[in-house]
Amino acid sequence: MDMFVPGKVKLAGEIEVSSSKNAILPILAASLLSDETKVIKNVPDIRDVTVITELIHHLGVKVDYQDRNLYFTGGATSQNPPYELVRLIRASFLVMGPLLAKKGFVRVALPGGCAIGTRPIDLHLKGFEALGAQVTLSGGDVIARADRLYGNHVYLDFPSVGATENIMMAASLAEGTTYIENAALEPEIVDLANFLNSMGARISGAGTNVIRIEGVRQLGSTDYTPIPDRIEAGTFMVAAAATGGDVIIKNVIPEHLKAVTAKLLESNAVVEEDDDQVRVYRVEEIKPVYIKTLPYPGFPTDMQAQFMAYLSLGKGSSVITESVFENRFMHVAELLRMGAKITTEGRTAVIQGIRELTGARVKATDLRAGAALLIAGLTARGPTIIMNSEHIDRGYENIVGKFNRLGANIMRT
Ligand code: EPZ
Repeated sequence: MDMFVPGKVKLAGEIEVSSSKNAILPILAASLLSDETKVIKNVPDIRDVTVITELIHHLGVKVDYQDRNLYFTGGATSQNPPYELVRLIRASFLVMGPLLAKKGFVRVALPGGCAIGTRPIDLHLKGFEALGAQVTLSGGDVIARADRLYGNHVYLDFPSVGATENIMMAASLAEGTTYIENAALEPEIVDLANFLNSMGARISGAGTNVIRIEGVRQLGSTDYTPIPDRIEAGTFMVAAAATGGDVIIKNVIPEHLKAVTAKLLESNAVVEEDDDQVRVYRVEEIKPVYIKTLPYPGFPTDMQAQFMAYLSLGKGSSVITESVFENRFMHVAELLRMGAKITTEGRTAVIQGIRELTGARVKATDLRAGAALLIAGLTARGPTIIMNSEHIDRGYENIVGKFNRLGANIMRT
């Protein structure tokens, strides 16, 4: 499905951010650790959530979605999530830790690669083995089995978000205490720990690089509201700055956006923070900045493409280094079609700011690249048509409605 984006828009008004996709996906997987009723509130209607919810339903859990609340009743009766769902999104791999801990056996198709890299899962599997599981590969599937999991020290060579989440979930029902060292610090990790603790887990240290999980016999029911989506918020902040508009973004935790705010301020945009909202506008010319993506609290890789679209405008050269994923510059070729002046060398891109971009027919290769093209299109002279725009809907709820509330006039074609 294509998206028609008119150019020369100055976004103005206010929007409300939805709950975080990257908090909700592991929380949905973690719900498999308990057979009681779990209620997860204010869940956005986005494709990645629908796919994981369907997968959990296929595992035998009763699922209801009413008034944006997800009701899970009962536990999993199967340990083998269907391939046709698993291959749709990488996050389906997050059910491995819970099923291993709860059922002692799990067989999951190896997650496919995606546009931004091979995305291995070696750290996840190393963690499961450290907890006493036998892990084997067979016919493209990963199989893990353990009569009982035992607490242990797990050192992560890289602070992987998914590996931290999978190991934390498995360790919640292990016998004894687990320490995850060099753990990821993302706010979504803290939210997952809070969700698990709300079901009776005993986790401390989430948000620091050592997380302590004291295993418990079983987990119970809960009623939980996930954190707001910091990447959706950041996307609208950058869109406001790029279009020279003036936007208030509500349902935000400014603390989660320190790196994005810092770079927006450095580039001459203005960011005014309240306790649960931010206002972004720009009157001065965009100033070039240097960005290096890093694990939290560094500059988020999920904001790299959007910032590149923004820095394509203005005077002077910006430099962006993508240190988290090995191939996350797919949006460069599309931005070049819109007249951007970008050169890449390995994981580094040099962006020479220009006066204005020109609308073109472009292709979304992944979720954040699609968002970057939408931002570029809003600023361009002439309309832009974004093909494969369904990538954007994977992680942004009602993105057309939200941008149109700010004056964008985007249409689906
Ligand atoms: C999560 O992916 C997010 N997805 C990604 O958001 C985000 O970009 C990423 O964290 C980094 O912040 C969800 O939370 C659902 P990683 P994840 O494990 O867990 C390497 C979006 O746009 N690695 O921290 O897959 C890996 O190859 C998505 O919303 C290993 O080498 O990220 C990558 O280079 C995109 N071995 C790096 O670590 C492993 O076992 C970061 O991966 C695991 C990861």
